[in-house]
Amino acid sequence: MNIFSQLRSLRERTAKEDWPDATDSPRSRVKIARTLEEMMQAFAVRAAVFLNENHCPYAEEFDGNDFTSTHILGLVGDEPAGAARIRYFGDFATLERVAVRKEFRSSGIAATMINEVIEICRRKGYSKIYGRADASLVPFWEKFGFMRRPKPEFTLTDHRFFEVVCELDPHPERLSLENDPVVLHRPEGNWDRPGPLESTKERSGTAAATHDTSGAAGGKKHAAS
Ligand SMILES: CC(C)(COP(=O)(O)OP(=O)(O)OC[C@H]1O[C@@H](n2cnc3c(N)ncnc32)[C@H](O)[C@@H]1OP(=O)(O)O)[C@@H](O)C(=O)NCCC(=O)NCCS
Repeated sequence: MNIFSQLRSLRERTAKEDWPDATDSPRSRVKIARTLEEMMQAFAVRAAVFLNENHCPYAEEFDGNDFTSTHILGLVGDEPAGAARIRYFGDFATLERVAVRKEFRSSGIAATMINEVIEICRRKGYSKIYGRADASLVPFWEKFGFMRRPKPEFTLTDHRFFEVVCELDPHPERLSLENDPVVLHRPEGNWDRPGPLESTKERSGTAAATHDTSGAAGGKKHAAS
């Protein structure tokens, strides 16, 4: 089984946002944090895991990169169970802060979050994801196709780490300048579903068309982009 089939089967093990509810145990799902509350849920998971369990100092965990990142939130029922963060650079993305609260471990939620991260990065056109693997967790990262870089270990927040990289298969529908502009406007990760701006089409002839663009009546000219 190649790495992408393995990822697919891991992905199928736990539910995503729009999966059916009909299970005996609380439904687990993974989503991109879009609201302040969802961001707070992701931060709460990280605080429980990294500050409390791993004894990481607050300023090192919440390092000033959180409001420039995409946050992945893992939920079991309505309870925040896992979190991970993606940052984007020119030709690679980084996967960071993967955490699952102790009481929700071994449920497969970390696998679902990481597979979601991989899918998001492939769809955005990235060919590589970079990570820093705790020395004891290299086998965990390897499960998802990450390979240790031929570089020595280093120490951060009193833990030993190795740099790891996952080479990604190109996504057949990766986002590009050839996409319809409405697709590129859709909320991050929801590129296959109509987004809020698509209602503009139905509104034509109403607000936009009746908006006074002449300036004669003091109408303002502006457009969302
Ligand atoms: C690492 C962590 C996120 C794993 O969470 P989890 O809920 O146990 O992960 P999952 O249940 O989704 O497991 C996914 C796979 O990884 C494997 N795995 C989990 N922990 C592992 C470990 N320490 N070493 C090797 N493999 C591991 C699981 O067996 C599973 O493999 P399988 O599909 O073949 O059964 C969790 O232990 C954690 O939050 N640790 C503290 C924070 C941390 O160290 N984060 C990583 C920083 S580099």
